[in-house]
Amino acid sequence: MGRRILLCGLTLFFLCAAGCSAGKKAGDSGNSDREQSELEASENLIVVGVSQIGAESDWRNACTKSIKTSLTRENGFYLIFDDAQQKQENQIKAVRNFILQEVDYIVLCPIVETGWDAVLQEARDAGIPVVVADRQVDVDEDLYTCWVGADFRKEGETAGGWLAEELERQGREDEEIRLVTLQGTVGASAQIGRTEGFARVLKEHENWKMLEMASGDFTQAKGEEVMGEFLKKYDDIDVVICENDNMAFGAVDAIKAAGKTCGPSGEIMVLSFDAVSAAFEAMIDGDINAAFECNPLLGPKIREILDILSSGGTVDKIQYMEETYFDTSMDLENILKTRMY
Ligand code: AHR
Repeated sequence: MGRRILLCGLTLFFLCAAGCSAGKKAGDSGNSDREQSELEASENLIVVGVSQIGAESDWRNACTKSIKTSLTRENGFYLIFDDAQQKQENQIKAVRNFILQEVDYIVLCPIVETGWDAVLQEARDAGIPVVVADRQVDVDEDLYTCWVGADFRKEGETAGGWLAEELERQGREDEEIRLVTLQGTVGASAQIGRTEGFARVLKEHENWKMLEMASGDFTQAKGEEVMGEFLKKYDDIDVVICENDNMAFGAVDAIKAAGKTCGPSGEIMVLSFDAVSAAFEAMIDGDINAAFECNPLLGPKIREILDILSSGGTVDKIQYMEETYFDTSMDLENILKTRMY
C-alpha cells in the first residue's frame, strides 16, 4: 500500500517533470515505457527519503556524494534526496513529504539539534524508522532508531590538546595566547561539540585568552567576513580556531588581505576541523597548522544500518565514525594521495 502511494507520488513527479498535466495517477494509461519500467523496478527496492542540510562546505558535498553512491539501485535502494538549502523549515517539509509518500526509511542530517519533536513524532506515528546522520537531534530518543556521526566534543578536545602540545614545543606554554573562534552554525552539533570540547582545554590554561567567538555559518565567505572583523578589532591574535575547513580557507584569505601571515611559520596559527583535501593543500602550502578530521563518508554506514534494519535486525543506537588529525609535521603529500575526500 505504502509503495503504491509512493509510486503514485513519483509518477506525478515524473509526469510534471515531463510537462504533462498534474492530474494523472500511477496506472493511468499514457505512462511512457521508461516511466513504467521505473515504477516496476522500484517495487523491490528499499525506498529511502534523505533530507540533507545543503551544500555549505566541501565536507557536506563529500557527505552527499557518499550517501548518493551508497544508496543506489544496484545496492537495492530507491533514493529520494532533498537538499534543504540550509533551512530547517525545508527539512521539516521534506520529512513530511517522505511520510506522505510512505517511504520505508527516513535519513535526516539535521541542521540544528532542536525543533524536531513534532515531525519525528509524525514519522514515528506513521511507523517509519528514522536514521539520524551527522549532527544530532535533541528529542526523546524513542523518536529515532539510531544516530551515526562524529564525536564533535572529542574533536574539540583533540584540537585543544594539540594546541597545548604545540605551544609547549615552541616554548610558549607560559606566554599569553590570544585566540578567536569562527564557530559553525549556532545550535548545530558540530558547533556545540567543538566549542565545548575546546573550552574544556581552554579552562585548563589560564594564559589562553579567548578574545571573541562568532559564527561563520560553516561557509568560506562568512568565515572570511568574520575573521576580517576580528582582525580590525584585535591586532595581536595568536590563534584562530575554525570550526570547519571552509571557514579556515576564508580566515586565511582575510589574514592575508590584512597584510598578516599565518600557518606554522606565520603570526597567526590556524586550526581547522574536517580535514578535506583542500585543507591538506592549505597545510602543504603553509597556511593552516592542523586539521582535525571529521569523516563525511557516512553513506556506507547508513547503507549497512538500513540493510540490517530491513532484514529485521537491530542496530546500536549511537554509532561514531573513526577520526584522527593531521598537522604539518606529517608527510601530508603522501597522506593526501590516500584521502577519499
Ligand atoms: O556537521 C558537520 C559539519 O558540517 C562539518 O564540519 C562542516 O564542514 C559541515 O558543514
